[in-house]
Amino acid sequence: MNPKQIAAEKAVESIEDGMIVGLGTGSTAYWAIQKIGERVRDGLSIQAVASSTISEDLANELGIPVIPFADVETIDLTIDGADEVDANLQLTKGGGGALLREKLLAANSRRFIVIVDESKVVDTLGAFPLPVEIVPFAHELTVRKLQSLGCELTIRQKDGANFISDNGNLIADCRFGSITDPVTLHTQLNLIPGVVENGLFVGLTSQLIVGHSDGRLTIR
Ligand code: 5RP
Repeated sequence: MNPKQIAAEKAVESIEDGMIVGLGTGSTAYWAIQKIGERVRDGLSIQAVASSTISEDLANELGIPVIPFADVETIDLTIDGADEVDANLQLTKGGGGALLREKLLAANSRRFIVIVDESKVVDTLGAFPLPVEIVPFAHELTVRKLQSLGCELTIRQKDGANFISDNGNLIADCRFGSITDPVTLHTQLNLIPGVVENGLFVGLTSQLIVGHSDGRLTIR
């Protein structure tokens, strides 16, 4: 079993009958959704909220009941991956471009379990370019403001065109190199007009499950 699958399947053990479950996005969350599908086939009764159209489509294929986020007061448990996680359980996310909905789910969940393989564990965030979701209107101005915070920036591309998020926005991948104060940077980014949300997840993680290539799990 690969380390992402090991971490994902451990997290799914925390799901109980009657829960509203948040579904993350990405290749690690994929394994969690697969396992949830298996448990639903075996009789688990839950309702799910998806963080992307990709995860919603997968959940539908697997027979997991998906309800609109607007119908939900609070999510009991969200399980999602991350691009980087540091010793304070601070994350960078958005490699799959779903950071806005992922953050909406995480921030409205009683528990947020993060599942990663060991390659995602870092001393300092920032080697992975930080995804920032920005509105297309006058995005050149937003880009200049972001660059003034000290990053090298590229607008994410897909199939030769700008990548468009599920929310109709662009993703600016901002290479800071090293993010020593994620709390301050998070505020600075979200204060820029044109920025919708950024991929720093601070103070949201309830539990971290790391899958290792030798089959071990570490849980914090
Ligand atoms: C998607 C995300 C993912 O959780 C993150 O990119 C990790 O992906 P993967 O599990 O494929 O490594 O934030 O927007």
